Amino acid sequence: MDLVQKKNDYFDIMTSELGQIEAITDELLVLARPQKHRFEQNDVVLMLQEVISMFEPQAAVFNVEMITKFADLVPFVNCVPNQLKIVFSNIIKNGIEAMPNGGDLLIKLKVVAEESVIISFSDNGSGIPEDKLAKLGDTFYTTKQDGIGLGLMVSYKIIESHEGTISVTSTWGKGTIVEIILKK
Ligand SMILES: Nc1ncnc2c1ncn2[C@@H]1O[C@H](COP(=O)(O)OP(=O)(O)OP(=O)(O)O)[C@@H](O)[C@H]1O
Ligand SMILES: [Mg+2]
Repeated sequence: MDLVQKKNDYFDIMTSELGQIEAITDELLVLARPQKHRFEQNDVVLMLQEVISMFEPQAAVFNVEMITKFADLVPFVNCVPNQLKIVFSNIIKNGIEAMPNGGDLLIKLKVVAEESVIISFSDNGSGIPEDKLAKLGDTFYTTKQDGIGLGLMVSYKIIESHEGTISVTSTWGKGTIVEIILKK
């Protein structure tokens, strides 16, 4: 191998590593607990719609259809919109990545007792083996070649700071449901 080729190889490795570092710092920056004053009453429907349209191209590439089923009247929730959008992105991204050969990602928005908003994301992808469920949300836990393993950890922290709940139920080989409950 000549010197120029060797140099190019090193550059490729460095560029790829820098990309990873950038992604990690981006995720970690999100972890700073949101200040009280940044919370505002905002529309989850709009946030979800924005994130969904952002992922349309990626979904199309993998033959994934995002199907939405939203309740008619959804109350605003007290939230930091940009942070909730990060959560929705991470979960939708995971759903698409779990269905490399296509499938449906059903995104539902329900209202319970006029004060809780339930958002669920159901995919019919690979599913998660039962003994791995407890590892979800661990820092750097990933089963993906190019995964970092921060998506769910960051999402759990954000939902916690919103005093909401997030749960994952999954059947290996069948699919996964991620459910988020937010209070008005
Ligand atoms: N919808 C899903 N279907 C199947 N497995 C999932 C799903 N969501 C998460 N997982 C599993 O949980 C692991 C952790 O997810 P997480 O989003 O935290 O990290 P990641 O997707 O691997 O990497 P990244 O930091 O890029 O998000 C994944 O590697 C995958 O094994
Ligand atoms: Mg992820």
